[in-house]
Amino acid sequence: MKFQKINKYQIIDIIGKGSMGVVYKCIDTVLNRYVALKTMNIQLMGDENLKNRFYREAKILAELNHPNIVQVYELKEYENLCYIVMEYVEGESLKHVIESKKPLSTISKLEIVRQIASGVSYAHSKGVIHRNLKPANIIIREDGVTKILDFGVAKLKTSSITSKGSVLGTIAYMAPEQLKGEQIDERVDIFAIGVIMYEMFSYKKPFNATGITEVMYKIVNKMPDYIPRANKDINYIIFKSLAKNPEERYKSAEQLMEAVEELIKKQNIKKEKIKNKMDFSITTQIKKVQKEIEKMKELRNEIEEHLLNAKQLLKQEKLKKAIEEAKAVLELDNANQDAEAIIEKANRLLVLKQEEEKMKAKWVKERLTEANHHFNSGNLIKACEISESILKIDPSNHDARVIKSICIKKIKEFLKRIE
Ligand SMILES: Nc1ncnc2c1ncn2[C@@H]1O[C@H](COP(=O)(O)OP(=O)(O)OP(=O)(O)O)[C@@H](O)[C@H]1O
Ligand SMILES: [Mg+2]
Repeated sequence: MKFQKINKYQIIDIIGKGSMGVVYKCIDTVLNRYVALKTMNIQLMGDENLKNRFYREAKILAELNHPNIVQVYELKEYENLCYIVMEYVEGESLKHVIESKKPLSTISKLEIVRQIASGVSYAHSKGVIHRNLKPANIIIREDGVTKILDFGVAKLKTSSITSKGSVLGTIAYMAPEQLKGEQIDERVDIFAIGVIMYEMFSYKKPFNATGITEVMYKIVNKMPDYIPRANKDINYIIFKSLAKNPEERYKSAEQLMEAVEELIKKQNIKKEKIKNKMDFSITTQIKKVQKEIEKMKELRNEIEEHLLNAKQLLKQEKLKKAIEEAKAVLELDNANQDAEAIIEKANRLLVLKQEEEKMKAKWVKERLTEANHHFNSGNLIKACEISESILKIDPSNHDARVIKSICIKKIKEFLKRIE
């Protein structure tokens, strides 16, 4: 590094190199703050006119005071070298943002453009045209505040621009009238904003070519393609700013800023609507889920009720009814294991009961035959005893009752007779 200190500015680091010289990060050793110091290849020595113009411009630039313009503190000379001292901005250049395709929402991009247009509009109101607006001359701070660099510096440039790359980088943003060497006004900055916007929304340069003359030819004669990924309002603003004829562009940077502001409002309303729609659908979804939960609760209560009935009926050996209740549970919850268990147990008991009934019927039949046999052979007491045992098992057995009552009647008659 050639200088360690330039006047009161202690060099800390090199920020970058441009067409006119180097930009250093420095500490102002008197005010104890960071500044950016840009050296400029301007030979003032011996040219009083140029020197006067340089300091006149310096005064104007230092008077530009706007949140979206990097504050210029001073323009000075140091050992044959001109330099400009300005506010040091910690952030990322728009050039880097575009090249790295940093994911930014449409609103964020429009907000950057709005701030650029706001700073440019202010400078125009002070009679300063930028002339060299390009992504490398725009820094975006971490908090989103956008700052324009190098205001009016292009006017100070001499023919000392030698690097082909930087010429191309600068030419790509120049308006047709600027390239043709015609009289220029504020509207060259509007054209440049159009180029910057085009690049921000398409990640392509609108007038792209490898050679300087081709780029110049395109700027003067060709219109770029419509940007499919940007909406029609954004395309409208870009294409209006890119009009070849300055008369067809926005009348002022302020008008351009207002158009962008309008669009931001529109985008915000759209965003709000989408948010409301989402909120609405979320509330409907929640209501639906709540209803489902209510239904589930009712269903669970119904299942519990049927299950309780089935258990009680099973205890009371009302097996068919217990099965019916358990089946009602399965209708509502076809995987209910309790209900399945009740049905299985009830069915098992039903089979046992049927077996028991069959055996009982067989026994009763055999006993009745026996009772009949004893009755017919006059063995009334035995016939009566057997009938009695049948009635203990099957109290409603008609035949046993008849046999028993006839036997008792006959025995009573016999007893009367022998008394
Ligand atoms: N005040 C500043 N604060 C922070 N970084 C700065 C500041 N001024 C310039 N820079 C950075 O320094 C680098 C070089 O800037 P410089 O203006 O010299 O080159 P350029 O903008 O690429 O081309 P040109 O010479 O056409 O302006 C750029 O990347 C820029 O972002
Ligand atoms: Mg610059």
